[in-house]
Amino acid sequence: MSKNTKLIAFTAVVIAVVAVVVVVVVMTVMKTKTPSDDKEIVIKFSHVTTETTPKGKGAILLKNLVDERLAGRVRVEIYPNSQLYNDKTALKALLLGDIHLAAPSLSKFSKYTKQWALFDLPFLFKNPQALNCFTNSDKGRELLNTVQNKGIKGLGYWLNGMKQISANRPLISPEDAAGLKFRIMSSDVLKAQFEALKANPQKMAFAEVYNALATNVIDGQENTWSNIRSKKFFEVQKHTTVSNHGVLEYALVTNKEFWDALPNDIRLELEKIIAQVTDKVVEFALEAAEKDQQAVVNSGKTKVHTLTHLQKQQWIDVMKPVWSQFENQVGKDNIAAVQQCNAQN
Ligand code: LMR
Repeated sequence: MSKNTKLIAFTAVVIAVVAVVVVVVVMTVMKTKTPSDDKEIVIKFSHVTTETTPKGKGAILLKNLVDERLAGRVRVEIYPNSQLYNDKTALKALLLGDIHLAAPSLSKFSKYTKQWALFDLPFLFKNPQALNCFTNSDKGRELLNTVQNKGIKGLGYWLNGMKQISANRPLISPEDAAGLKFRIMSSDVLKAQFEALKANPQKMAFAEVYNALATNVIDGQENTWSNIRSKKFFEVQKHTTVSNHGVLEYALVTNKEFWDALPNDIRLELEKIIAQVTDKVVEFALEAAEKDQQAVVNSGKTKVHTLTHLQKQQWIDVMKPVWSQFENQVGKDNIAAVQQCNAQN
């Protein structure tokens, strides 16, 4: 072998060794790095209400605070108004990792926990303040964790408010509801509540309610002022009763595995942001309850009826016996804790 050939062979061996070392080092680094270390984390938040509602505004505030405090590291994409999923499919998508945040009504979780049915008991919560008192209590916080073993992590309760009842006939006494078809969320307590009125409850996704009312597939519905207004239910219901007979409360939820795998500092910052937004949602909700009721009244498109004390008592007498069917399921101790909050508010 000539001197030159020897040199070429030696150089080739050196290059090969260096190349192998580089490949090994790169592969090791890639293996130990999580994608989130160098890639922006995208959090997809799907919900079913419009952007003008307490939940819609909460989602926007969450996104803005993340843009501000976690710029370049986390980005929130919001899909409002059922444009991606309804609540049932959203929870499935969340578990599959296709979305990362959702805030369905607690009434929609019966597949994952039986205890959240507590929030549907008619006339259980005196007012939104009593509801907040309970959700901030030890019992309330404990309850938020009951979906963990299903792979869902509850990040907080988001308030909407008190539900009102509507139909195309005045609903002044409970007998007025008899025989009518009412849309309900997917909750057995709500089903029992309307059966107690001798009415016909129909479980239906939120996005379908307006058309079902407009085409008389159903006769009536129950919801909060913000949903009645933003979804225009008042335009297709001749009568609305200020019944305040139930509450609409959400759970802001994520996929537990996804959440636990986030880098610590990001998760902690997100938790701080969520706590801040959760407080703000209370303000949005209290404000909406007043403004949206007023807007519905002013529209003149539905006649809004206020019940006398005696009339309201008749609704309580018919609906409240439903509690006994569910008190073991939801926990008598939880009911007692709510009643304590009622006494303080
Ligand atoms: C409903 O289905 O009526 C509500 O849960 C909608 C919502 O998210 O406020």
